Formats: sequence, C-alpha cells, structure tokens
Amino acid sequence: VNAAGVRGKMNNAFDPSRASGLSGATRSMVERRAAVLAPTYRLFYEEPLEVVRGSGTHLYDRDGVEYLDAYNNVVSVGHAHPRVVAAVHEQMKALCTHTRYLQDGILDYAEDLLGTFSGPLGAEGRAVFTCTGSEANDLALRVAKHVTGRRGVIVTAEAYHGNSDLVSGISPSLGEYSPLGTWTRQVRAPDSYRLSADEIREGFVADVRHQIADLERHGDGVAALIVDPIFSSDGIYATPTDFLAPAVEAVRAAGGIFIADEVQSGFGRTGAGLWGYSRHGVDPDIVTLGKPMGNGFPVAGLVGRLPLMETFGRDTRYFNTFGGNGVAIAAAQATLDILRDEGLIERCETVGRLILVGLHELATRHEHIGDVRGTGLYIGVEFVSERASRQADAALTAQVVNGLRNRYVLVSSTGRFANVVKIRPPLAFSESDATRFLDALDDVLGAIE
Ligand SMILES: Cc1ncc(COP(=O)(O)O)c(C=O)c1O
Repeated sequence: VNAAGVRGKMNNAFDPSRASGLSGATRSMVERRAAVLAPTYRLFYEEPLEVVRGSGTHLYDRDGVEYLDAYNNVVSVGHAHPRVVAAVHEQMKALCTHTRYLQDGILDYAEDLLGTFSGPLGAEGRAVFTCTGSEANDLALRVAKHVTGRRGVIVTAEAYHGNSDLVSGISPSLGEYSPLGTWTRQVRAPDSYRLSADEIREGFVADVRHQIADLERHGDGVAALIVDPIFSSDGIYATPTDFLAPAVEAVRAAGGIFIADEVQSGFGRTGAGLWGYSRHGVDPDIVTLGKPMGNGFPVAGLVGRLPLMETFGRDTRYFNTFGGNGVAIAAAQATLDILRDEGLIERCETVGRLILVGLHELATRHEHIGDVRGTGLYIGVEFVSERASRQADAALTAQVVNGLRNRYVLVSSTGRFANVVKIRPPLAFSESDATRFLDALDDVLGAIE
C-alpha cells in the first residue's frame, strides 16, 4: 500500500499522494484527472508528462519540447504515419460498419495476414477480428475450453494477457489483489539471468508437466498453455529458444492447445520475421494479435487452426460490434503495407543490434547494469545493487527511468522485481535515435553513480 492508499503494484507508476509536489500546470491536470477519471488509471513517471502531438519516433509537449519515444510499440511504423492517417480518413469518409455485410477490405487483409504465417496456421488458419488484445485472448481461451472440453490454463509467473474477467484471471502480473482463476497455473519464466540455459530447458517443461498433473488431479485438465514469446511482463527474455517446444508437446499430449500471445512480440517486433513464436520453433494452434496491428487504431484479433475454429463456429458464434470494421481494417492494412514497404523489420533488427552493442559497452562502465538482453527492438536492461548477488534494484531502476524522462527520452520498466528497463520503441527508430538514447542513458548512469 503506497502513501495514497493504492494497493498492488505497477512499474513506473506516478504516486498520486505526491501531486502537491508537482509544478502548477502538471498538478492541475493531475487534479482534474482525479476529479473525473476513476482511480483505476495510473500515470507514468514521478513527474507525469503531458503530450499533445507525435510524429515518427518523437512526442511533443504543449511547449513544443521534443521527447524521444523509446517505449511505445503500438505506433510501430511511427506516430501519426501519414499513410495510416490517410487510409483511416478515406475509409471513414466512405463507410464504417460491421462484419455482417460483404466487404472487400476485410477479405484482402485476411488473405494478406494469413499469408504471413507458415505451418498449420498458414495452411488452414482462419481469422477473427476484435478491438483489443484482451478480447482476442478472451476468445482464444473460450475456443480452447470449448474444443478441448478442459478448462485449465498454464501461464508464466508474471504473465499479463489482458483485462477481461477471464483473462485477468490468467494475468498474475496484475498483483496479488487481482484474483486468478482456480484453473490457472503458473510456471517459472525463462529467467536467463538467474538460470542457465540447461536449467531453463529442463525446468520449463518440468514445471509445465507438474502443472498439467495438478490440473488433472483437480478435474480441470489442461485446455491451453498461453505464452507471450518475448515474456515482456516477466522481464523480457529472448533466449534461450529451445525450451518452449517440449512444453507445447507435453500440453498437446495432455489434450490441450498452445496459444501464442503475439500482442507484444508480433508484427516484426523481435526483428526475426513477423511473429515472435517462430524464434522458438513452435507452431501455435492459435495466435492472438493486437497493439501495433493498426498503428494506434484499435484493431486486434486472432488466427486459429481451422478444425478448432470450425468446432467453435459450429456450436456458437462470435460477433464484435466494432471488431473488423472497415476503418480498423484500413488502419491494419496500411500498417502491414508500411512495415513491408519501409523495410521496418530489417531496420528493427539492425537498430536493435546497435542498441544491444551499445548497452553491452555501457555495462563495462556501469556496474549496476546486471544484464542486457533482447531481440529486435524489444530490449531489457536489468539493474542490480551488486553484480555478485544479482540483487534486483527497483529504486535505481526508477531513478534511471525518471532520469531519462528528464533528459527527454521515454522508457519504462518491467519484470517481477520492477528492475528491468524496457526499451521498446516504434520500429521506425533510427540509428541516430539509438545513439541519442544510449548517450542519454550513459549520462543518467554517470549522474546517479
Ligand atoms: C502480452 C499481452 N497480451 C494482451 C494484452 C492486452 O491487450 P489490450 O490492452 O489491447 O487489451 C497486453 C497488453 O498490454 C499484452 O501485453
């Protein structure tokens, strides 16, 4: 419980009890928020930031001050990308309606999207569109439970899969006051900083097997293993990549399915093709999509193997008033086109590598950097009080995040111990953006030390 009486936890959250310490304009906006918005919301940073405009990899405050955005993955092809803006505008002028009429756009996009998958999803995938990642995961779980006749769900220890009643029940990262389903089981995340590759390889599948047995003992059985392939809320773990396949095999042998939650890792973020799961050499039964799919316009969805979707579709139906509307689809199509036309996946790989090299160099000079890890433009820097003990240092991490904010560079933190700086910029991040970020981090660490 913090000073404002707020329970639970969230990385990099502004503490409302400190509002009186803010400067005039910021304080009055924080107070206005408190007067009209429910206290379910959290602001970022010790000094919350007002933004009024975005362009490319930059955000601007009311005075026109530029901030480098090294955090927002949703605007993957860049803030206010003119092609997305134009596509949304044109479609809104023509028509915006639901999926119960024949329309070309949704068919073009679904064909295009399905063509990006290999394996079973490429051969026999079928798409459903939603507005949010939570809805996509909620539907994926309904499908999993329906087709398997089981209800157990296995997740990683600090997973986040969304905000509906069903998916908050499989999201332990919401904290101890947010109830988990009695049919939810957790397994250790692949903590590559504290566990060896062998320990992860053997431990992950062993944990999954143990939880399957427990679910069976309780009469639930396992309906699904659901995993975010970049383990973002667990602390960002990109390697090793050989532990997931045996776990998926164990789940399938017990009658369950594998859901890859690509809300974070999808659409090129990992720099290795479009889909994060492919780095792990597994073929999901369902993938769920969201966040960067429409470059900020609400569009999300899932792609599932035909036999599953056929059974679910035969026995029940799914309608989402706004999901798959023409404007959402126009945003999604423009975003996918731009990803390809501007070579953003290749760029993400190159710039991500540059950042990793720069961070490893900083680690030779700054002893509180315990670990540097990631792939593409999903990068984590873990801060510790001393390297020998690997003791997480959340307070130092908060100083780093806020120090960067005060140097006009935006990141946040993540992980079980809130000690991992999360670097997850738009894929449009350039080499000079990377240099600016690294220089600012060097400066912040120098000042702290
Ligand atoms: C891995 C993952 N899945 C699902 C969601 C939920 O998506 P949304 O906020 O669009 O409902 C999130 C959101 O942060 C996420 O990180």
